[in-house]
Formats: sequence, C-alpha cells, structure tokens
Amino acid sequence: MNTANPMLPVASAMVVRRYPFDLQTTLGEDWFGGDRLRTIIANALSIPLPSGERMFIRALRQYFEAIEDPQLREEVKIFFKQESSHTQEHVKYNRWVCQHRGYDLAQVEAPYKDHNEYLCDFAEPRLLLATTVCMEHLTAIVSHLLISEPGWLSEAKPAVRDFWLWHSVEEIEHKAVAFDVYRQLVGDKSYLDEIMRRTVIQLAQNLRFTVCQMFLMEGGRPRDARKWLDTSPFLQGECGLLAAINAHIEDFYRADFHPWDHDNRHLIDLVSVHLNQAFA
Ligand SMILES: [Fe+2]
Ligand SMILES: [Fe+2]
Repeated sequence: MNTANPMLPVASAMVVRRYPFDLQTTLGEDWFGGDRLRTIIANALSIPLPSGERMFIRALRQYFEAIEDPQLREEVKIFFKQESSHTQEHVKYNRWVCQHRGYDLAQVEAPYKDHNEYLCDFAEPRLLLATTVCMEHLTAIVSHLLISEPGWLSEAKPAVRDFWLWHSVEEIEHKAVAFDVYRQLVGDKSYLDEIMRRTVIQLAQNLRFTVCQMFLMEGGRPRDARKWLDTSPFLQGECGLLAAINAHIEDFYRADFHPWDHDNRHLIDLVSVHLNQAFA
C-alpha cells in the first residue's frame, strides 16, 4: 500500500513520458478553433510554467532530506523528473509562441519569473512549499477538466491538444506529492488555506495581465481583450471555465482535504492510451 497516497497502489504508476512534439508551425496559428482570444488565453497559461515548475522543484528539494517515508521519497524523485521535463517543453512552447506571434518573451515572462525567483531567493521554505501545493492543486484542477470534459479542448488542433493532454496527465499523477510533503513535514492547514487564497488572486490577476499584454503585442486594444475576458461564455457564466475551476478550488478548504479524495486515476489510463496511439 502506498503510505504517502493511500489511494494510489504504487508510486511506480508515475512515469515520465517523452513524445516528439512538433508544435512550431501550429503555435503560430489561432490553433484553438480559429479563435484568437481563446488561443491567447491557452498560450498565456504556458508562460508561468518554466519559472513556476523550477520553483516547485526547489521547494521540494529543501524538504527532501527530511522525508522519512520511502514511498514519498520515490514519488518526489519522479515529481522532479516530470516537472523538469515539463519545464523543458514549455520553454520551447513559449519561445515558439513568442517568435510566431510577435511577443517579447522577456516581457511576458517577467511578472512570473520575477515573483518565482524572489520566492526562491528570499521566502521561508514553508511559504515556498505551501505556494507549490496551491499551484499544484490549481494545475490539477485544470488538468482534470481538460481530460474529463473533452469539450474544453475539442476545437484545439490535435498537435497542441495532445501536448496539453500530456502535461495534464502527469499533473494528475503527481497531484498529491507536494501536498503529502507539506502534510508530513509542515502540517499547518490554516496557513495553507491562507496561501491558497492569495495564490488564486495573484494568479488570476497575472494571467489577465498576460492575456492583455499578448493581445496588445499583436496590435489589438487591451480594452477589447478585457471585454472578452469579462463576457466570453468560454470563461464566464455558469457553464464557463472559471465556474468549473472555482467549484474544485472550494473543496481544497475542507480541513481534511486530500487531493486523492477526488479519485480520477481512470483519466491517466485514458490519456496514456491515447498518446501512445497518437505517437505510435
Ligand atoms: Fe508540470
Ligand atoms: Fe506539477
């Protein structure tokens, strides 16, 4: 039995998948159903990832030697490999998006890079780990939605859809790793809840800023992007993406919450089979 994640049978279920993604040309297009703003939003989600995932690795490294549970230690090692592989692929993704769509990469990355590097250099280990747990939960929510409700990605070009599915499946696999490290070595849930409230607000503000920035760099007026962000049925309203995400965030604040309370392991097999067929 997996003592770190009681719901998971063995940590070896976590694997590092490598596929020859070829996104160069597709990322220059409005690959998300020919919809410019939806494409910009999806591309904006990639911008924080390289510096964010480096920060997650740093956060867990600071606690690694203190982890006594051998199962959790193994999971953390695979977490390091998965996140560093995601970082490498998203560095390429972000470079190509910026090259093809005329964005200044340094400028769009700056708010995330600056914040994440500041945390790595100056934050106490507990804050770094708590931020990682919160970001991992938010990532796991989006990953779950992208896989479980194919409608969200149905209009995406297959090459980019498969790339996001690949990242999503590994996020689901390791969704409890940082949480279990926090639970075993820090344990203060009210502090974690406080950091989650701050993280949600900050991430939403930053992503909104990034979308407007990208839209401006493409020659659009940021006010048009803001209007779209506030009114698009894709994001807003009862059936919008934000309502779906919020419903899952609320669960996090339960005192006895654990990421595997929501058992979505079946999605891992579903995507693994799909990707193996797509790249056969
Ligand atoms: Fe990742
Ligand atoms: Fe992750």
